[in-house]
Amino acid sequence: MVHRPPSRVHGGAEALIPEEPDWRALPDRVFSPGFLALRGRIFDWIEDYYDRDHLTRAGDWMLVLAPDAPEHLVIAALLHDMERSVPGGPVLDMATVRWDDPVYNDAHTGRSAVIVPEWLAGQGASRELAAAVARPIREHEFGGSPEGDLMQAADSISYLESNAELTASWAIRGMCSIEKAREKLRWMGERVRHPLGRSIAEAYLGRSMREFELLVEQRSEGDGGR
Ligand SMILES: [Fe+2]
Repeated sequence: MVHRPPSRVHGGAEALIPEEPDWRALPDRVFSPGFLALRGRIFDWIEDYYDRDHLTRAGDWMLVLAPDAPEHLVIAALLHDMERSVPGGPVLDMATVRWDDPVYNDAHTGRSAVIVPEWLAGQGASRELAAAVARPIREHEFGGSPEGDLMQAADSISYLESNAELTASWAIRGMCSIEKAREKLRWMGERVRHPLGRSIAEAYLGRSMREFELLVEQRSEGDGGR
């Protein structure tokens, strides 16, 4: 997959939100050699994942929201959805089921909270590190603890930044209605519990919605009323 550097625009009402992090940037602090080596292997693992940019940016935004975040929390953000890369996971019928459906989301977060620690253990990560990612991963959709709230915020901001096109494609391909796809973006923007994360997510929700509407409109014009 070709690296797509994020091209981002600031201005207007969005000018007050924190500066967008550079792609895979690390703040000026000391990270352990083990973390840095593991991060490289994480980027290898997610390279072919369909939503690699979203996972990458969740890690980047985690370090904006919490520059001193513990290393396990950055790792959790980078890998939080990876159960979806392993066949056999839960499936949400996006045409008919609410985005915040607890059954689907519990299955998704719970499965990632098993698969990711297992992968980390297989990479030689310490037992403590592998165990520490489970709870924040489990809480990334709804928050709950301080770490879970940070995960939810990083997930939402990254989703809105990276996935307007993906979300529009669901409507364009008929997997759900246009309004149902809009609801996904709204849910990601409005669910955020972390105060700073919420204000950033709200700004990105506006931008994501505009991008979404443009894409859907272009497609319907391209169809020529067929
Ligand atoms: Fe996610």
